[in-house]
Parts: sequence; structure tokens; C-alpha cells
Amino acid sequence: MCGIFGYVNFLVDKSRGEIIDNLIEGLQRLEYRGYDSAGLAVDGKLIKDGDEEIMNNIIVKTPGKVKVLKQKVIDDKINRTDIFDNHAGIAHTRWATHGQPKEENCHPHRSDSTKGEFIVVHNGIITNFSALRKYLLSKGHIFESETDTECIAKLFKHFYDLNLKAGVSPDLNELTKQVLHELEGSYGLLVKSYHYPGEVCGTRKGSPLLVGVKTDKKLKVDFVDVEFENNAAQQQQQQANGHSSLLNNHSTSLDSGFIPVAPGEQNLRTSQSRAFLSEDDLPMPVEFFLSSDPASVIQHTKKVLFLEDDDIAHIYDGELHIHRASTKSAGESTVRPIQTLEMELNEIMKGPYKHFMQKEIFEQPDSTFNTMRGRIDFENSIVTLGGLKAFLPTIRRCRRIIMIACGTSYHSCLATRSIFEELTEIPVSVELASDFLDRRSPVFRDDTCVFVSQSGETADSILALQYCLERGALTVGIVNSVGSSMSRQTHCGVHINAGPEIGVASTKAYTSQYIALVMFALSLSNDSISKTKRHEEIIKGLQKIPEQIKKVLNLETKIKKLCNDDLNDQKSLLLLGRGYQFATALEGALKIKEISYMHSEGVLAGELKHGVLALVDDKLPIIAFATRDSLFPKTMSAIEQVTARDGRPIVICNEGDAIISNDKVHLTLEVPQTVDCLQGLLNVIPVQLISYWLAVNRGIDVDFPRNLAKSVTVE
Ligand code: G6P
Repeated sequence: MCGIFGYVNFLVDKSRGEIIDNLIEGLQRLEYRGYDSAGLAVDGKLIKDGDEEIMNNIIVKTPGKVKVLKQKVIDDKINRTDIFDNHAGIAHTRWATHGQPKEENCHPHRSDSTKGEFIVVHNGIITNFSALRKYLLSKGHIFESETDTECIAKLFKHFYDLNLKAGVSPDLNELTKQVLHELEGSYGLLVKSYHYPGEVCGTRKGSPLLVGVKTDKKLKVDFVDVEFENNAAQQQQQQANGHSSLLNNHSTSLDSGFIPVAPGEQNLRTSQSRAFLSEDDLPMPVEFFLSSDPASVIQHTKKVLFLEDDDIAHIYDGELHIHRASTKSAGESTVRPIQTLEMELNEIMKGPYKHFMQKEIFEQPDSTFNTMRGRIDFENSIVTLGGLKAFLPTIRRCRRIIMIACGTSYHSCLATRSIFEELTEIPVSVELASDFLDRRSPVFRDDTCVFVSQSGETADSILALQYCLERGALTVGIVNSVGSSMSRQTHCGVHINAGPEIGVASTKAYTSQYIALVMFALSLSNDSISKTKRHEEIIKGLQKIPEQIKKVLNLETKIKKLCNDDLNDQKSLLLLGRGYQFATALEGALKIKEISYMHSEGVLAGELKHGVLALVDDKLPIIAFATRDSLFPKTMSAIEQVTARDGRPIVICNEGDAIISNDKVHLTLEVPQTVDCLQGLLNVIPVQLISYWLAVNRGIDVDFPRNLAKSVTVE
């Protein structure tokens, strides 16, 4: 999915080459999110423009990977040696939504093709872009791309010119406010302009954006004040403007109806940010990194500030100012903390593995352990989830729990629904976020809505979260990415602590989500005496899981051979499971589809006879989950239905289980036995490995499968 990276240096000399390298490296760290094009913009040279001297700009962009962009920079023979002591560069990886992945649609986009006065990069979708485009076309702007983003760049120039005409030279953040006032939809956005050398504005709504700060000097305070408008003044100006938006004012001439930035607003430039003053109150050398993802900032600095929706981060003269695009509401925070990221760079590197996905599969003994670390007292069978503790009494009283998620995260909800219901005795429904929203499903104040997401940024899940918040439900986040929109917007929650997941196909996040949800169910029911034995059994089971996963990972050689010898040339694959293992079957099928591009389907074993059996013959490969639990006899009956039709299933069973006479089974993959509700944690590992090796054998770019993105931040 799209990624944003920006770099500003102040009183730190950098050559253009170093600046470009920084931008490209930032984009490389965003590659895991999935994208189809990349681009960047930096300053060029001072040129004469009439009587004025302006800094022209250099935009390089191309469809394809960041390495193609890197080569293009070399091919375009861009001068690397000019030195800048203050410069703002912006860059982007694009995942096509409006218009195909071709050069004109890549970001950055510019306001005009002659001078490129304003340059923007944008994540998200501008939903009213057609109307804006029509309007801007009518005002003489010429569009170069099919994107929704380009109208943002044009709007900057449009408002800039209108302000100038009215005799006001607007501050960049004031201009940004005027532009944002016109936009509907979601955005993470950076803008630079030669009218504002060395400056950048970054803003967000429904799409993440953070600012990393690097300086050798100690920051005076670890927060930045939010600079609010005077509400009355803003309302007055809006009334005077008479335009809630350009489009509403379509019939009147903007040139006559437009009210420029109030000259007084420009005085904001004189305000000093306490955070960026040195001891002697002099400006200090500083570098800023703006990004949609902490993974691209961490190698430079751990000091970051997460922007809130409607924040405008304005960076100039070595200072970071936060303005608001909306008026102040009661109780709104007046500061943004500068936080310290706990992530290490080596946590996001590949290590000895060929792919991130392989690394992440093999990390599961550690990642599952980390999910439980400090939260389970194994000796006394007590689970403590700090982020939920205060809310447990309310959740216990709720009338139902709705779990809402997408993709793999949805499967982790399905996998744990049954143990949730068993332990809590609260009805639980599991919803795909998009379908939940499509149905405008009823939600009540006494509902608890649990949002599960690796990234915490998935657009459908975030929209569903907003929908539930609006209806007064209690919202809980089960999230991997600290500081993500979802972890900040939910009332309470649990970080799954799986560490950064880079491979598009989610693996370690699944097992950690699974465990976090089980711990959640255990915490909710820890006051129930009748459940004590079951609790102890599950907690003992959880303690062994990391070691047992290690054992399952030893199956890799056998699985590699199975993929090589038997599965490579197949076109389709069925996965059969029931009870706890239905979710494993669905998750296995999803992994195989997304990574190896082989059609595969997870089938509820009980439904076999209602249709799918028609597909079974001696050729169709089938994987059946037949580990021991109360439904084992029923699963065996499904396997017999398959073998009776000459099917030769691959059976995932418990160690030493003489499952069925060997000549009827193609192969068994034996996994250790655990408590029924945890068995899915072990059973999913072989199918993760199968999908990985099928993809490798087929020469597929495992970490970046075609058409897919790690974090889907559009609806
Ligand atoms: C994308 C990813 C999937 C992921 C899904 C939900 O489709 O490719 O791997 O399961 O989004 O993402 P989330 O970050 O909300 O768990």
C-alpha cells in the first residue's frame, strides 16, 4: 500500500546525493507494505524567473520497484554534489487506485508543468476528486495524471494565487488549511514548494503520519504544543468567506468570493517551539523524518511524534509546529508527545533467512513467547492484561462481543470464538469489517466490539471502528503496531508484541493474535470458579506452545519435499477442518492463494457432503486436519468419505497417531498435541510452510505477491 517518506535538514549540511539516498532508503523500508511505483522530489538550482530568483525542483518517478527509481536517478544524471544546509525532500511509493501504474500517475504530483510550484505526495483517497478536478479544469488548470492526488497540488497553487491577488503572502500551514477545507476522503499528505524553501507541511486524516526528530542536543521538552486557531476568528472568517467549500460556492466567482488568510495569522511564524530550542535559546542543527510508517524512521532516530487526524505538522527553520485544521473542541489535548520507539532496526532485517516471510514463520517460538511475556503467571495460572484490566468489569456485563477484522486477522477471531464463548458465556459474533459496514449492522451501547489487526491501519477495520464508536459501544483493539490509528482510537486493548511483520502474508501476527485473544478470554473469566480447571489446563498449554512450535518447524524438510514432489504442478488444493480447525483450514487456504497463486479452498469438513465432495477424485490434493479433539471421530468420517472416492489426503495429525491405514493416506505431518482450543496454533505452521515453499518453487516474490499489499489503507 502507498508509503510516504520526507526528509528535512536544518543547519546540517547535506549534498543532494545524500538527500536522495536518504529518501530512497526511506522508501526501501516501506517496500514491505506493497506498491507498484515510486518517486521523489528534491530541490534543483536557483534560476531566474522574471525579476525573481527561484529554486527549481527535480522530480524523478517511475513504475516498478524502488531499485528502478534508484537506477533512474543515476540514468537522469542528477547532480549529487550541491550542498544544502536547509532542504525539504519528499518521496512516495504508490499502490494504484486511480489510474494505472504508469509514470504520469506516480507521485510526487505537481501543481503545474511549467514551474512545479507545489509538489505533493499523498496516501489515501480523495473521494470528491472528480468534482474538484472539474472545478479546477474550469479555472484553467491542466492535469497531467488520472490520479485523485493531483487535484491537491493544483488546489495549493489555486489558493496561493488567490491569496497573492488579495495582497497576502500566506504561511504554508494556513494555505494547507485552506486546501484541506476542500478535501473529502482520507489522506496522509506532504507538500513542498519553492515559495517556501526548506519547509514542508505534513497532515493526515484517516491515514497514518509521524515525524521523527534527530538532533545531537537534548530537546528542551518532550512534547510539542498544538497551535490552535482562535475559534471565533476562524468561524468569523469562514462566515465571511461564505464558502463551506469551493464546490458549494461553485456558481460564484472564487476570485470575488474568496477571503485570503488573515494577515494576523502570519504572526504565528514568530512563535517559538519550546521543544526545538537549545539551552541558549538558539536554533539547533536538526533533521526531521516524516513517514507513514515507523519502520522507515527507526534507523535514523527513535524520537517520534505521531500526528492525530487534522494535525498539520509545519516544519521550517529547524522547528516543528503542530497546527489544527479543525477548531478546538472541549477536552482536546493541547500537546503532542515526542515518544521513544521501542523497535530495533535488526528487528526488521531479514537475518539469515531468504525472505521476511520465512524469517517470520521461524520467529514464532519467540513471537508467541513475547505475546505472553509478563502477562501470564504460569505458576499461579493468572493472566494480567494491563491495557484491559480497568475495562474487564464493563466487558463482563456487555450483552455481546462482536469481533471485527479482515484477512488473516479475521481468521484469528474465528479460531478463538469458540473458547471465548465457552469461557465467558457471552455470545460472540465474528465479522468481516467490509461486510459489517455494508450491512450497517446494528450496534448498541452495551456491545463490546473487538478490533483485531496486525497493522492497526486497515481502512475497512478503521471505518468499522469509527462506526462502533459513533454508536457508543466499548471498543477493544488487538493490534501489533504500536502507535497505529487503531491502537490509539480504541478505548482499551492489547498489543500482541509480535514485532514488525514485513511479509505481506501474515504468519507470526496470526499466532500472536490467537494467543492474545485466548488471554483476553481467560482474563474475562478469571472470576469464575467453575472455569478454574479449564483455565489451568489452557495456561499450562500456552506455556508449552513456543517449544512445540519449534518442533513443528522441524517438519520443514519433509514439507519442502512434499511441495517439490507432489504439489508443485497442482492447480487446486482443498483444506478440510472442523470445529477449532475450520479457521486453520481457511487461514491455510488464504496463505496458499496469496503467496503461491494456487487456487485453494478451506472447507468445513461437515459441509463436504453438501457439494465439495463432487470435486474429489484420485488427483485433487487435499489437506485434512485430524488432530485429537472432541470432533475427531467426525473428522475421520470426512477423511473416509474422501478416501472412499480414491482421494489420498495429506493428514495433519498428532504425533504417533496411527490415523488411518497408511496406504489410504498420501502422507502424514505429525504435530505435538496440545489443549483443543490451542491446537490451531500448531496446525497452522505446516500450512504456512507449504504456502512458502510452493511460492519459492514457483519463483514468486514471496514477500511482495502480485496485486496485494501488507497494509490495505483504502476501502
Ligand atoms: C491485507 C494483508 C493481510 C492481512 C489483512 C488485514 O490484506 O495482505 O495479510 O491479513 O490485510 O490486515 P490487518 O493489518 O488489519 O491485520
